[in-house]
Amino acid sequence: MNHLEMAAGRSGGATQIPYYQSIGGECALFQHAFEQRLPLLLKGPTGCGKTRFVQHMAARLDRPLYTVACHDDLTAADLTGRFLLRDGETQWVDGPLTRAVREGGICYLDEVVEARKDVTVVLHPLTDDRRLLPLERTGEQLQAPDDFMLVVSYNPGYQHILKALKPSTRQRFVALAFDFPPPEQERDIVARESGLDTPRATALVNLAARLRALKGQDLEEGVSTRLLIYCGSLIQAGVPVLEAARATLVEPLTDDADVQAGLLEALRATFGED
Ligand SMILES: Nc1ncnc2c1ncn2[C@@H]1O[C@H](COP(=O)(O)OP(=O)(O)O)[C@@H](O)[C@H]1O
Ligand SMILES: [Mg+2]
Repeated sequence: MNHLEMAAGRSGGATQIPYYQSIGGECALFQHAFEQRLPLLLKGPTGCGKTRFVQHMAARLDRPLYTVACHDDLTAADLTGRFLLRDGETQWVDGPLTRAVREGGICYLDEVVEARKDVTVVLHPLTDDRRLLPLERTGEQLQAPDDFMLVVSYNPGYQHILKALKPSTRQRFVALAFDFPPPEQERDIVARESGLDTPRATALVNLAARLRALKGQDLEEGVSTRLLIYCGSLIQAGVPVLEAARATLVEPLTDDADVQAGLLEALRATFGED
């Protein structure tokens, strides 16, 4: 495995379909976008189910999935590939985007705004009706097959002026807004993923509503579904409820002592002083 393969998780093959609790018409919309060969943009807060959704849909459509977590050092070559020295010879090695294009897979760029500017140059010809991936270094011009799909995600909550998606980029995508699931669905997700019983999963989800109401005034982001699952898993493993809640629903959210006190108050109001 070379470093490009390590940097990008490839998953696929006819395995089990990862559990995903549908919220609205998002599965159908994904499928239509795939069939119409349209790229898809998922926006929403961290830990609300975007990655799980893509994993679920890739398995349902039986396409290999290449996931790339974008960061501020990620360059176009990390996606397309590069010449590497192997046994004294230079060999071209495809990056995850190129492999998805060659194989007809789904390439998922997580937090795409984090990537360097030159990445958008690669994405543009791929996201209009040309569906082309030019590989400057090899002189190839790849035509994406019908079953190739590009999916990108970003978190509008983190947006600052320097890291916004430019209109010329975002207007190339069909876009789906994600948010934390409605209470009943979130309860089912937390119960299923953590193994917690329904009454306690319900209590966690009610607590989340209180904590999320504090967002904005004091907190940058509301507590995620992911953290509720962590909390449920710790409780399920025998950690006392308040301790589990503090470690998953308070400490990860803020370092500010006053804000923590506010969150702890909500915990005690829900779970009592025990
Ligand atoms: N609709 C959903 N169906 C099933 N699991 C979900 C759903 N939403 C969130 N989850 C759970 O929450 C976790 C975090 O979601 P994830 O997809 O990683 O969030 P994101 O990519 O938006 O940051 C997942 O691992 C999964 O356990
Ligand atoms: Mg994710």
